[in-house]
Amino acid sequence: MNPETLAAGLSVDRARVNARLQALFGERGAAVPRLDAAMRHGVLVGGKRLRPVLVYAAGRALGAEDAALDAPAMAIELVHAYSLVHDDLPAMDDDDLRRGQPTVHKAFDEATAILAGDALQALAFEVLACASHPHLPAMIRTLAQAAGRDGMVAGQALDLAAVGGHPDAEALATMHGHKTGALIRASVRLGGLAAAAEGDPRLAALDDYARAIGLAFQIHDDVLDVTGDTATLGKASGADAARDKPTYPSLLGLVGARARARALVEEGVAALAPLGEGAAPLKALARYMIERDH
Ligand code: IPE
Ligand code: IPE
Ligand code: MG
Ligand code: MG
Ligand code: MG
Repeated sequence: MNPETLAAGLSVDRARVNARLQALFGERGAAVPRLDAAMRHGVLVGGKRLRPVLVYAAGRALGAEDAALDAPAMAIELVHAYSLVHDDLPAMDDDDLRRGQPTVHKAFDEATAILAGDALQALAFEVLACASHPHLPAMIRTLAQAAGRDGMVAGQALDLAAVGGHPDAEALATMHGHKTGALIRASVRLGGLAAAAEGDPRLAALDDYARAIGLAFQIHDDVLDVTGDTATLGKASGADAARDKPTYPSLLGLVGARARARALVEEGVAALAPLGEGAAPLKALARYMIERDH
């Protein structure tokens, strides 16, 4: 797939999920306007929407209709947005800039940011639970497991515990696989579940893909923290070194980290072989994970 085709597909899918997220907030009143405004700030302003894009691409690769993919696409982005709101809090990464805007606790206040994150997560499960699909229980379980104590939250706990330390490659892969990989894997699986039942071997192929590109994605995030500039990233560059966070560049050097991310992307692409031509957009997305500049 050439870069123009990929870019066109990305912008169509981003527009699709953005319109649905806007409508979701538009269609309900705000019990507490300040909380609602903080939630909107956390989810509606900016963001590459890569997880929803993966839901659509994985679902289509297995033959799902777009209409069956909208709820999982929204749900995963809502969980991701909540994870960013909390990741930026003073008790965690203490960042002031996100998606080119003040972070939620800067634009509002810390307590409101905590509550907005909580409510975004609950909204994600509401959106998914209100969808109608025969595989809905498996979808809800997938999202819950990826978000929680064995998934993203576990990774965030490992990340905080690792500050100032020197984890080896295996420990770093475990941390990254949880804090970031879990939601990327869930994105791909949610799309797959819209077309295939649990146990379908195509879901296993998708999972091998997602595991590899999820780790590559966070390695590239670490690389961009070193090589990117704040304006392009929309978040502070150099933040990991400033906070003494162990990262792939700190472990392997920039050249080594980039090589590891490239190898993982090729591993992910190879895992798609059983899916044939329908997986072409997923292959292009795998490469985009480590070619993006923000
Ligand atoms: C940032 O994710 C946090 C990580 C897991 C590395 P993204 O780079 O997908 O952030 P947005 O959604 O585009 O802002
Ligand atoms: C974020 O990892 C992972 C989650 C939000 C779960 P980072 O802390 O590296 O993400 P950025 O760099 O702040 O976006
Ligand atoms: Mg973090
Ligand atoms: Mg952070
Ligand atoms: Mg980072």
